[in-house]
Amino acid sequence: MTETTGEDADGTRIIDGEAVAADVRDEVAARVETLEAEGVTPGLATVLMSDDPASETYVSMKQRDCEEVGIESVHVEIDADAPAEELYGTIDDLNEREDVHGVLVQLPLPDHVDKRRVLRRIVPEKDVDGFHPENVGRLVAGDARFKPCTPHGVQKLLAAYDVETEGADAVVVGRSDIVGKPMANLLVQKGPVGNATTTVCHSRTEDLEETLSTADIVIAAVGVPEFIDGSMLKEGATVIDVGINRVDADTEKGYELVGDVEYESAKGVAGAITPVPGGVGPMTRAMLLYNTVKAAGLQRGVDLDLS
Ligand SMILES: NC(=O)c1ccc[n+]([C@@H]2O[C@H](COP(=O)([O-])OP(=O)(O)OC[C@H]3O[C@@H](n4cnc5c(N)ncnc54)[C@H](OP(=O)(O)O)[C@@H]3O)[C@@H](O)[C@H]2O)c1
Repeated sequence: MTETTGEDADGTRIIDGEAVAADVRDEVAARVETLEAEGVTPGLATVLMSDDPASETYVSMKQRDCEEVGIESVHVEIDADAPAEELYGTIDDLNEREDVHGVLVQLPLPDHVDKRRVLRRIVPEKDVDGFHPENVGRLVAGDARFKPCTPHGVQKLLAAYDVETEGADAVVVGRSDIVGKPMANLLVQKGPVGNATTTVCHSRTEDLEETLSTADIVIAAVGVPEFIDGSMLKEGATVIDVGINRVDADTEKGYELVGDVEYESAKGVAGAITPVPGGVGPMTRAMLLYNTVKAAGLQRGVDLDLS
């Protein structure tokens, strides 16, 4: 299991997403073996309809992750200027395939394709991103089938580091459909890593600093580099930085990745903090594998007893 006692010189616990993600991958690999013994090889289909190099990288990382834990991956590429119907047809085929248990359409999509229609087209049983309205509804109702990967990964990090959420004041900064909203919905649910008094902030929030100053747990999902600094945090707060932002830097690639939190100033104030990279990012990837084995188990009637 993950060693969760690492502290830096300021006495702040550094939440090691790489280590917790490795534990999740081990759990997934063990469940893949269980499924194999039942004659099922879990399969994930990724669909890319974009020329964006970042999207291409994300998709190839997902394929590599699958290979590492024994999940079969199927990949379909569609020209970015092809008609939307081609994407719908591809989804319909993947929905039908018995060897494909999870279907993921890489976002963002070209402007001429209606994202909502695409997400509704994937059958909910194979919607391993958890974005289909049926799965969103189930999550809100406290009966989640697939929790979206990033907020689920955050929950796993909080659990791995024994962060008390029950009765805690949690502030989620950001209300996107893929991070902020599902994150807040998970924290507010009755049950483990829930029961938090949860506030959601966004660009129209007045006096964000006042709200942050009393937060025991801060989840930053803003998409603005180093938006939250140490002066805005309560002493001892747990800070989960979801942000991944490219900023120009004198490096080989010409950029570096920073979070939505100014790490250096926050570290001295927070009781625990995730680094960027190496915090939430690896967890998002691991939870996709988790959802894929879960999907395979559900579709084939194999009880995987996932934690
Ligand atoms: N680590 C991972 O695996 C992972 C996964 C997904 C995303 N991310 C990263 O997480 C960040 C957020 O992603 P996202 O998809 O949720 O972004 P998004 O869709 O752009 O949403 C950003 C949210 O932040 C709010 N916001 C923007 N400026 C603000 C301000 N000045 N004050 C308060 N709130 C403000 C926006 O408010 P409005 O709604 O009012 O516009 C919006 O709700 C990005 O850096 C993204 O790259 C990381």
